[in-house]
Amino acid sequence: MAYNFAAGPARLPDAVLARAADELFRRGPDGACAIERPFTGEAFRAVLDHARQRLTELLALPTSYRILFLAGGALQQFSLVPMNLLGASRVAAYADSGYWSRRAMAEAGKLAQVEVVARHPGELPLAAPAPGSWDMPAGCAYCHITPNETVDGIAYPALPETGEVPLVADCTSSFLTEPLDVAKFGVIYASAQKNIGPAGLTVAIVREDLLERSRPEMPAPFSYRRQVEEGSCVNTPPMLAIHMAGLVFDWIADNGGLAAMAAASQRKAARLYAAIDGSAGFYRAPVAPGHRSPINIRFHLAETRLTEAFLSEAEAAGLTNLRGHRQLGGVRASLYNAMPETGAVMLAGFMADFARRYG
Ligand SMILES: Cc1ncc(COP(=O)(O)O)c(C=O)c1O
Repeated sequence: MAYNFAAGPARLPDAVLARAADELFRRGPDGACAIERPFTGEAFRAVLDHARQRLTELLALPTSYRILFLAGGALQQFSLVPMNLLGASRVAAYADSGYWSRRAMAEAGKLAQVEVVARHPGELPLAAPAPGSWDMPAGCAYCHITPNETVDGIAYPALPETGEVPLVADCTSSFLTEPLDVAKFGVIYASAQKNIGPAGLTVAIVREDLLERSRPEMPAPFSYRRQVEEGSCVNTPPMLAIHMAGLVFDWIADNGGLAAMAAASQRKAARLYAAIDGSAGFYRAPVAPGHRSPINIRFHLAETRLTEAFLSEAEAAGLTNLRGHRQLGGVRASLYNAMPETGAVMLAGFMADFARRYG
């Protein structure tokens, strides 16, 4: 059995793959399978309603929030957030916590005046921007954060306070890995291919009062308001991904919900960080304890010339897709919900054995 540690698209739960094979690709008496039916028909409406209802339950979603199932990835949201939330303002606050927050800023900067209100320290050990109360620039429409930096392996230990300014979060790599206090946010978004389902779908959760900021002249598929009005069906939505998302939400509910996901996530991460910290410096984690992501575990071999041997021997041992991001190198193990605890145990064991042989 091989374990795929890819940062995304990532492993899906075995039970979800089995259900998908059984339920999605079998034709019914109407001559169509689940992804061949009209998106405006009753059958797909039921799929959407089910996914929305399940997610509402998992998140204990307050009634003042709307769930959107949108085509595309988180990168599209980097533009859709300013397009939908700036309203009459030009100013948006961003926190620089690493790679993806900087990509978000670069896209927003094409549409808004971006003010960087917090930065990560930029030197070792790496850390998230200090939370606490952040000063917001005058007339600022929203404040954007990336609670879990997938590339850097940094996670915020606590959310910042932004007063009346709505907090917007790119939760792509941490969504559904722990309970989320939705009421603290104006908008949350996450693309699917880590913890929700196959690529092509992004879930956005928008506080109702912010919908009036989507201007009528906006292109209809990009408008949060229009998508809410039309039940995420302004045009043909990513039906396969939505259907599979519903199966993933069922799987999370059947396996104890978000509290159980968080507990498993902490156990898996603790094994790998213990393997790093217990290696007498053979492996090094660049992120400070307390700011280390439980989802994307990033480390280096002190002898960098051993990295290729580590990666190829791991691959041969069935521990796949561990190569770090192309800009940072090293090793990255992503432990999304569908990674069984045995995967983390196997990897920790491999790390100890490799260190013994080469240390
Ligand atoms: C935190 C974060 N934001 C944004 C993205 C980009 O997502 P997509 O490829 O779905 O546009 C990723 C992808 O890894 C991510 O991890």
